Amino acid sequence: MTNRLDGVPDSRTVGPVDERGERGERGEWGERGDAPRLLLASLSGEADARWAHAGSPYADLAMLGGVTVDARSREAARRLVRRDRSEFLPPDPLVFIDFQLAALADSPIRAGVNVRSATVGPVAAAARLCAAHDAVFEVNAHCRQDELCRVGCGETLLRDTARLCEFVSAAADAGAPVSVKVRAEVPGVDLAETARRVQEAGATVFHVDAMDSESVIADVDRAAPELFLVANNGVRDGATVAEYLDYGADAVSVGRPSTDPRVLQRVRRAVDDWFAARSADTGRGRPHQPPDTLATSDDDRVDRS
Ligand SMILES: Cc1cc2nc3c(=O)[nH]c(=O)nc-3n(C[C@H](O)[C@H](O)[C@H](O)COP(=O)(O)O)c2cc1C
Repeated sequence: MTNRLDGVPDSRTVGPVDERGERGERGEWGERGDAPRLLLASLSGEADARWAHAGSPYADLAMLGGVTVDARSREAARRLVRRDRSEFLPPDPLVFIDFQLAALADSPIRAGVNVRSATVGPVAAAARLCAAHDAVFEVNAHCRQDELCRVGCGETLLRDTARLCEFVSAAADAGAPVSVKVRAEVPGVDLAETARRVQEAGATVFHVDAMDSESVIADVDRAAPELFLVANNGVRDGATVAEYLDYGADAVSVGRPSTDPRVLQRVRRAVDDWFAARSADTGRGRPHQPPDTLATSDDDRVDRS
């Protein structure tokens, strides 16, 4: 298939900026159609356009990044690299986002960008780029590394809901559908309340790393029913998919095994089976046709962490 990936340089370098299309009239989920049911969750330093396109036979939407976009978060990312963490640190993060999204323009997978920032200015700029590419903008209120928390991004936003909502509003005003990526089990944080607040601030999607607290999905669903709820952590097979969808998630996402086609195929089948069963009752749900070339095995299960 023709796509623009051949021109995409290595993740940590950037090339020239492509022409961007003007944003047209689009619904909340853009102009590419149905709601996504299986997402690929960001992996810093790994989740670029190539990664997203490789997952396109199975997944509907890929969250690129996380991309650190302001000076403080970039300094934190440099410190992470010094202790051997893999990070995206292109010379210009906005050019990088633009290039990666342009590279996916002809790919069947939809894109989003997971953004880390300690300040609101670059959030709006990155969200404008996402809007121009019909991509989802994801506020990272999830990463918990000390380096990131010390400068006030990632998980610290969960304890500062007013600032989180400021980020969400700025991104929504820029015209992008806004997702908020959060983590459960953060002491003192009530995710149901966070969900209510970000929904009021203009978020469309709530992407929850449930950790070992899967039932938090039901709490969030009750608190903010308008949000499109994506459940994450340990999604590997039919049982984990059904558990999250039964709790009220609208979709699930896969992080660590997002480069393993056997896991993706198994999860895709489970998602389609679940929605097909539901559509028998309600007429909703969309079958997906992943390639049938890969064997599945119970050995593919990955421990949750
Ligand atoms: C190496 C690595 C890098 C990650 N980077 C990010 C990131 O930049 N932004 C983010 O929101 N989550 C990040 N995550 C979290 C994953 O997206 C996901 O929430 C987590 O791994 C749990 O899902 P899983 O069990 O499917 O892997 C990262 C996880 C790993 C293992």
